[in-house]
Amino acid sequence: MLNFSFSNPTKIHFGEQQIAEIKQEIPKNSKVLVTYGGGSIKKNGIYEQVSDALSEHQWFEFAGIEPNPSYQTCMKAVALVKEKQIDYILAVGGGSVIDGSKFIAAAANFDGEPWDILAKGAEIKSAIALGVVLTLPATGSESNKMSVISNLETDSKLPFGSPFVQPQFAVLDPAVTYSLPKRQIANGIVDAFVHTMEQYLTYDVGGKLQDRFAEGILMTLIEEGPKTFSEPDNYQVRANVMWSATMALNGLIGAGVPQDWATHMLGHEMTAVYGLDHAQTLAIVLPRMMLEQQETKRDKILQYAERVLGLDITDENEAIKQAVVATEAFFHSVNMPTRLSDYNLGEEVADKIVSQLERHGMTALGEREQVTLDKSRKILLASV
Ligand code: NZQ
Ligand code: ZN
Repeated sequence: MLNFSFSNPTKIHFGEQQIAEIKQEIPKNSKVLVTYGGGSIKKNGIYEQVSDALSEHQWFEFAGIEPNPSYQTCMKAVALVKEKQIDYILAVGGGSVIDGSKFIAAAANFDGEPWDILAKGAEIKSAIALGVVLTLPATGSESNKMSVISNLETDSKLPFGSPFVQPQFAVLDPAVTYSLPKRQIANGIVDAFVHTMEQYLTYDVGGKLQDRFAEGILMTLIEEGPKTFSEPDNYQVRANVMWSATMALNGLIGAGVPQDWATHMLGHEMTAVYGLDHAQTLAIVLPRMMLEQQETKRDKILQYAERVLGLDITDENEAIKQAVVATEAFFHSVNMPTRLSDYNLGEEVADKIVSQLERHGMTALGEREQVTLDKSRKILLASV
């Protein structure tokens, strides 16, 4: 096992009616900014629950953080934070609202041009305190230190991470996910699945427990994911999907093991250029990434095939093929397409995305830095 330091300081309040807990979590004398997206929270009762919980706090609101949050929108919120002297941000939404709020929290305290945090990895020395009410189980952003921000002027979508932007607490009420459109439910399941694969499907360093954790999450998503469609009112199904998504990217399963993230980096470029949803890009790239990287990932793909998918691995090459087929079939089982052509895109994507990767220095991706621009091109061409 590799050396690691692990700490996850986000306190989770899980279950129905837990939004009321934010009253206790945010200090009474805080000036709070509630951030949210396009208004889904006003239609499903979440906004009311948040207002009730904050009835004794002084609070303001900033609406309109869009999917794939933009630097441009976030900077408007930074101006409001400064004007109102906000000292606590409460993000109410999915990964986009949370990521946007993390950037706002860091940018408000940053000396200099905040885009440098993303473009140049500029050091973050502090951030405004952040809490979260999660409305879409997917990214794990509610209990990690990562954020991904898009710059609309340059077609760039770049990640940053800092312990200062890790949420202090997160409320996870599975009942708030009933109002999610089917497309977003599928996005969440696929994103959580691919997060787990990016930390599991690498090479063996003896992390037995990490492997079993990861396999547990993958199997839960395979078993419960399709039920969100066949049994949409089943609370236990929603609860299991929600907790799986958080556990997939809160640092636990990735501690002490190699991590890949090549699928994500290609995916971010595809969202920046073509506007596909984050998880839509992952479902296209991952199957071909598995095939292209099958030699370096061989043992882990076979382990996945046997333990997660229950396949016979006597014929190893056949088992690897079948594992990829089954992975795509799982994506299809939650109505997630897996081909560029499903979005009317073709071979032109390869050149465009490769030039984006080159521009962003992503020329040697993956756990062994073997995903060169050439391999990325092959993966994309095979994904048409
Ligand atoms: O904006 P509103 O009106 O709220 O609608 C949203 C949005 O249109 C809607 N929605 C959310 N909760 C709802 C709901 N609609 C009805 N009922 C609810 N309960 O869903 C739409 C999509 O929301 P979004 O936040 O964009 O989705 P998601 O959670 O999938 O987040 C995606 C973003 O997270 C980034 C992605 O790149 C993308 O920008 N990621 C962040 C990561 C992290 N911080 O660790 C890791 C991930 O790999 C990912 O890159
Ligand atoms: Zn993701």
